[in-house]
Amino acid sequence: MSLLDPEELTSSHAPTWASWDDLEREALGCTKCPLASAGRTQVVFGVGARDADLVFVGEGPGAEEDKQGIPFVGRAGKLLTQLIEGIGMTRDEVYIANVVKCRPPGNRDPEPIEIETCRPYLEAQLAFLEANVIMTLGNFATKLLLDTKIGITKLRGQEFEVALGKSGEKQVLVPTLHPAAVLRNGGPALAQARSDFVVAKRALARRLEAR
Ligand code: URA
Repeated sequence: MSLLDPEELTSSHAPTWASWDDLEREALGCTKCPLASAGRTQVVFGVGARDADLVFVGEGPGAEEDKQGIPFVGRAGKLLTQLIEGIGMTRDEVYIANVVKCRPPGNRDPEPIEIETCRPYLEAQLAFLEANVIMTLGNFATKLLLDTKIGITKLRGQEFEVALGKSGEKQVLVPTLHPAAVLRNGGPALAQARSDFVVAKRALARRLEAR
């Protein structure tokens, strides 16, 4: 179990690609997993500031994201935007990516083979971004990046030390509920998500002060 073991979470983060542009070019043309031929319109690579202090990692594009080529632009995306704005930030100053970059058909969960095949792209994004704080949105991103089987309801709102950037410097990872789950579950889930965002905001403020 490597959940609380930053050593393991930091093992190899030298990106396979020489530059972000190389990474993005390859990802945008990717046909390595079944999602490439499962009806995707386009690869949804990610959006936001390349020098973001705060990065979000969701699960995978839905129908609207597949159409527009931008993560979190549907209903769940609108809630994500509100949560970001609720901590005094804007979508433009953060970076938003997903575990899988192509829409699973019918909004089904991504399969393990799809997650594993897409994983190098996310790992390279995080390696290049080197954000101070990473928020994982829901189970898929949290389990992947913390290398754990523990569910989101037990992990949300806590700070975990990781080092997913290429420098190997410590970062804070804060899991929170997926915005789509918040939409499904209503009031109490929204309160939990808001409180998780405050945890991330405080972690970020602390790290920026320490610089
Ligand atoms: N849900 C996700 O996990 N990612 C998106 O981009 C949109 C909805």
